Amino acid sequence: MPVTSREVHLVRRPDGAPVAEDFAMVMTEVPEPGAGEVRVRNLLMSVDPAMRPRMSVGQALNEAMMGGAIGRVEASRNPAFKEGALVSNRFGFREAFVSDGKGLSPVRDVAGVPLEAHMNALGGPGFTAYGGLLRIGALKDGEQVFVSTAAGAVGAVASQIAKIKGCYVVGSTGSDDKVRWLKDVAGLDAAFNYKAAPVRQQLRELAPKGVDVYFDNVGGDHLDAALASMNLLGRVAVCGMISGYNEAGARTNVRNLSNIIYGRINLRGFTAADFMDLRDEFQSNMADWLRDGRVKTHETVYRGIENAAAAMVDLMAGANLGKMLVRLAD
Ligand SMILES: NC(=O)c1ccc[n+]([C@@H]2O[C@H](COP(=O)([O-])OP(=O)(O)OC[C@H]3O[C@@H](n4cnc5c(N)ncnc54)[C@H](OP(=O)(O)O)[C@@H]3O)[C@@H](O)[C@H]2O)c1
Repeated sequence: MPVTSREVHLVRRPDGAPVAEDFAMVMTEVPEPGAGEVRVRNLLMSVDPAMRPRMSVGQALNEAMMGGAIGRVEASRNPAFKEGALVSNRFGFREAFVSDGKGLSPVRDVAGVPLEAHMNALGGPGFTAYGGLLRIGALKDGEQVFVSTAAGAVGAVASQIAKIKGCYVVGSTGSDDKVRWLKDVAGLDAAFNYKAAPVRQQLRELAPKGVDVYFDNVGGDHLDAALASMNLLGRVAVCGMISGYNEAGARTNVRNLSNIIYGRINLRGFTAADFMDLRDEFQSNMADWLRDGRVKTHETVYRGIENAAAAMVDLMAGANLGKMLVRLAD
């Protein structure tokens, strides 16, 4: 029997920050799986900043927003996927879909770790933080570290890995509540609200010994401020530039790049594809850190596919603490 599925489509390219009217909910019919196919019902959907630049270029109009999700196989005619199995996928903002199995991967059961963690510290955001900081940032124990968007999914994990490595860690974020979470829960040495005073001034005050590694999630004024505070032979791991994502071409204004000459700074962008060899080591370390509480996580969870568009709009406005998710079913 076919089943119905609701999907959230992009129906208009945003002009600046995304708004609810850029999306529409569409009812579709999902057939019974054919030979070699499975039908998956999504349980959790990821809401990511990277969806925003794709809304300008890359994401097809009048199709479901593409992105990461975890679902349960509810009907299977593919021996590789048993009914009831949990699978991660990139079929995005939709309740159910049929797949031939390509692009589905089993979710590894990690004792004592909730499903949400697989989309947060134990999933893409955590792995991005781990490889970005340790491999791309070449972090050494005890260094001076600055992480922007430190109370977001990637930033919160990057900040806490740096603490585990004995570093002095400063984080920036967009509200006083998030500043408190970073200091009181995540255990950072210092944190500041970038909306309260210029980033450059606050970073200078809170990182008096300069910065050896800057984990950049923001670009723009944050990158400018970090470049002005970098120590000799410092590294900038460029993970994201969210301050430019609402601009055409995801442009970001950086004015003092010349600091990389005098400071012999290594500034390098990356994606997780650059360090897949670290995957097993990451999963083992992160599972331990989550279990023993050395990495604290938080998820902001909207319920129901009818709230997926709002979750995307609110993510770009900074409404999330930790990972932004949409839960479709328990
Ligand atoms: N390279 C990779 O492979 C890779 C993989 C995943 C993510 N990323 C990048 O990592 C960054 C964080 O992603 P995430 O998934 O962890 O998202 P996130 O940090 O959980 O959520 C996005 C946050 O960005 C902040 N923000 C929004 N507009 C901003 C602005 N103009 N200036 C400063 N901060 C702003 C908001 O927090 P505030 O309250 O702090 O403003 C918001 O909560 C993004 O740049 C993303 O593109 C890169």
